[in-house]
Amino acid sequence: MPTFLLDDREIEFNPGDTVIAAAERAGVDIPHYCWHPGLSTAANCRMCLVELLPPEGRPALLLDVLRFDEEKGDYVLARKPKLQPACQLGAVAGMRIKSQTSEHAVEARAAVQEFLLLNHPVDCPICDQAGECRLQDYWLEHSGKKKRMQDEILHRPKAVDFGPTIVYDAERCIVCTRCVRFCDEVVGDHVLDKRERGNLGEIVLAPGRKLDHEYTLMTEHVCPVGALTAKDFRFKARVWFLRSVRSVCQGCATGCNAYTDYDPRNQTVYRHRPRENQAVNKYWMCDEGVLDYRRVHDGRILTARVAGKKASVEDALAEAAQRLAPVGKDKLAILLSFTHSSEDNLALIELARALGVGQAYATGRPSGSGDKILRHTDKNPNRAGVSQLAQALLGGLPLDFSALVAAVEGGSVGAVLALGSSVEDAALAAKLKRVPVVAISTFEGELAQQAAVLLPASSWAEADGTFVNAGGLAQVSEKAIEPQGESQPAWRHVLGVAGKLGVSLPFSRAKDLAKVLSAHAPKAGVSGSSAAAEAQA
Ligand code: SF4
Ligand code: SF4
Ligand code: FES
Repeated sequence: MPTFLLDDREIEFNPGDTVIAAAERAGVDIPHYCWHPGLSTAANCRMCLVELLPPEGRPALLLDVLRFDEEKGDYVLARKPKLQPACQLGAVAGMRIKSQTSEHAVEARAAVQEFLLLNHPVDCPICDQAGECRLQDYWLEHSGKKKRMQDEILHRPKAVDFGPTIVYDAERCIVCTRCVRFCDEVVGDHVLDKRERGNLGEIVLAPGRKLDHEYTLMTEHVCPVGALTAKDFRFKARVWFLRSVRSVCQGCATGCNAYTDYDPRNQTVYRHRPRENQAVNKYWMCDEGVLDYRRVHDGRILTARVAGKKASVEDALAEAAQRLAPVGKDKLAILLSFTHSSEDNLALIELARALGVGQAYATGRPSGSGDKILRHTDKNPNRAGVSQLAQALLGGLPLDFSALVAAVEGGSVGAVLALGSSVEDAALAAKLKRVPVVAISTFEGELAQQAAVLLPASSWAEADGTFVNAGGLAQVSEKAIEPQGESQPAWRHVLGVAGKLGVSLPFSRAKDLAKVLSAHAPKAGVSGSSAAAEAQA
């Protein structure tokens, strides 16, 4: 692999790489605002300036400049090298670059930093970006000086309503155009643009438009400062109190990689952010997926119920066994869930195998709209995982929900042990009521309504779980918070039902399930970037 020298360190690069991209891959941060690895190069912020040393034996390209001489109290003529933006500078084998070791680059960055803050309101205490703002971080790393301009700042539009999800503050905007380029290049919707120049530069909406496509929250994500804030997250939490786990979005079968940010003090999830995975979602998520974290706390089933009345989990398990045992294995059906992890589904499959149950069905959320960017029409995160397991362990694909309803109506199913919360055809759900349904559900919905016995399952954010996306990639979503209320991972309830039925299962811990899973669906592990790499993008 060809290399170049950056501050005397050898950096490998691929043909076509820019210096900043190669440096980032090597774990070296060249400070930047406007550059983003997933967008075109604008080279407008000048924060990434570096000094390119001339080839040995050749003179450096020097510029005449005026420099203030403290002793003379006047400007004097001086010379300095012409600095290059690392985000636009193509890497060439053998080139020598100085970044942190160049006094000129260091001075230029401090100047850029001072310039960007000239008209900034410095309202960090009330800004939602505080704690993860490039202006704050780079001021500390590359400037650290008081502003010399004492005049009133130039005031520009504040709290501009850009659309259903985003608020814009022009005074905090450094006009890096990341948001404009994201809309143009990733979404293909020229809804944002820049107007005016210099101090007056600001981002505006296209006439008659709102920022209302399916990926609006990514504009806030790419904004390196607090100019674009998400209405959903504004004023809700301070980021330094939040912790993150690497999760997988539950919104559709694409399985975008995410970070789930939660506050461990109140066990509350506050947001989803995209996590880089070039094989799945690159750097992005859709709005539906980003906001999907809200379901962790909305519409949850937090206690067990028997015949619609609150019960202890222990009583509900005993009642479940009483309802299921008399039916006999030939008329008992299991309903797997495309929304639950492979661990949960595997547990139910193992119970069916132990009991000799032959009737397996599966369902999930109904399909919805999709696009060619990320959004899949299948709104279930684990259809492929359920299908893989059923084929491997039950000898075939499970039948769909309408087949289960037909079997109930035809009398060949006498009771159902169901996993999940929603069904693909809600209109048919009421027909399940003819037979006893024991449901292990996370959310209120069609299955909870039909259940004679309801066991509260924890959500994906409350347990480690494996989800196989539409491309067949098995990915682990990590546990963020403790199970809410009296909920437990669904596989534990399956274990509880098995115990009451007097059946022993080949697992007792999550680890055992993971072992079986790895044999049937090779796991990608927790794929994607590290938190540190993401923080640098
Ligand atoms: S709103 Fe943010 S992303 Fe857009 S130009 Fe301003 S600073 Fe850059
Ligand atoms: S495309 Fe699907 S998986 Fe990705 S963020 Fe959106 S809903 Fe989630
Ligand atoms: S990152 Fe903005 S000019 Fe290079």
